[in-house]
Amino acid sequence: MIKFVYQNKPLGTGDAVLKTKKFIKDKFFLMLLPDDLIIKKNCSRSMIKIHKKYNTSVMASMNVKRSNVSRWGIYKLKNKISKNNYLISDVIEKPSVKNAPSNKAVIGRYILPREIFSKLLNQKPGKGGEIHITDAIQKLIKNNKKFIAHNFSGKYLDCGSMSGYIKSTLEIAKS
Ligand code: G1P
Repeated sequence: MIKFVYQNKPLGTGDAVLKTKKFIKDKFFLMLLPDDLIIKKNCSRSMIKIHKKYNTSVMASMNVKRSNVSRWGIYKLKNKISKNNYLISDVIEKPSVKNAPSNKAVIGRYILPREIFSKLLNQKPGKGGEIHITDAIQKLIKNNKKFIAHNFSGKYLDCGSMSGYIKSTLEIAKS
């Protein structure tokens, strides 16, 4: 069964997630951003495996060019826990090149804990006046909640920028 909630104003990813609060009954839930396509390998499935193994939150991640960090949520790595999986010690929404803790970006697949709703409820607008899921995640990490970054092995198509959208359309048309 699919239930829809509507975000009448574009107030950010966190605001959108908050609208689903009454439907989320489990301890963890999977969130997918529709403009981030990952093809050739099922990224959500790999993340669910990791979640089951470590019983923690998980986010998809990949390395990006240092000059492009301000397009993404960028995280700081604490330590490697297994092949392609890292423990996160901080995450910042769209930092400047100067303030970025690394060149490791969060891509739109998240396994989040229900506790995130309590952070979102009191959250002030961040970058660009939006309620970002990244800021709520940052608060949970500061409260010692574990988040794993999973460097996925599928192919990423970014539909969140005009050039990325055009490139993605061509790529999908080929396959
Ligand atoms: C959103 C998130 C950002 C993440 C990105 C992945 O940004 O806010 O942290 O890195 O998705 O695509 P948006 O693409 O909505 O600007």
